[in-house]
Amino acid sequence: MTGAELIERAVAASSRAYAPYSEYLVGASVLTSDGRLFDGVNVENAAYPLGVCAEKSALVAAATAGVRPGEIAAIGITASPCGGCRQWLHEWRIPLVAFPRADGTIAEYAAGELLPDTWDLPE
Ligand code: THU
Repeated sequence: MTGAELIERAVAASSRAYAPYSEYLVGASVLTSDGRLFDGVNVENAAYPLGVCAEKSALVAAATAGVRPGEIAAIGITASPCGGCRQWLHEWRIPLVAFPRADGTIAEYAAGELLPDTWDLPE
C-alpha cells in the first residue's frame, strides 16, 4: 500500500473520530510489515488535555494486537502529526509517515526525519 492509499484509508477512519470540542476529525492508518492494518481516530474529552490523537489510537490498537516497534511499515495520517505524535512515531521506528500538505501534495518522511537529533531507542 502506498502512502496515498493509507491516507485514503485514514480519511475513511476519520469519520469515526470523537471530536465534539474541536470538531477537527483526524484519522490514522497503520500498515504492519506483515500486511495487517490498524486504524485510529482522535478521541477528545471534556477535560481537554486528556484527549488522544489519531496516531496514538492507531499505534495503541496495533500494540494491543501484539505489534512491536520496528514491525510497522507505514502510517497514513489525515493531518500533519503534532510534536507529541512525532515522538510516538519515532518510538515505533516507522520508515514511512505520509500526510497531506495544505497545498494538496503528500508529505512522506521517515519518522526519524520528523524528530531530528533526539535520543536513542532501546535495542
Ligand atoms: N490531533 C490528532 O489527532 N493528531 C494530530 O497529530 C494533530 C491533532 C487531534 C487532537 C485534537 O482532538 C484535534 O486534533 C485538534 O487538535
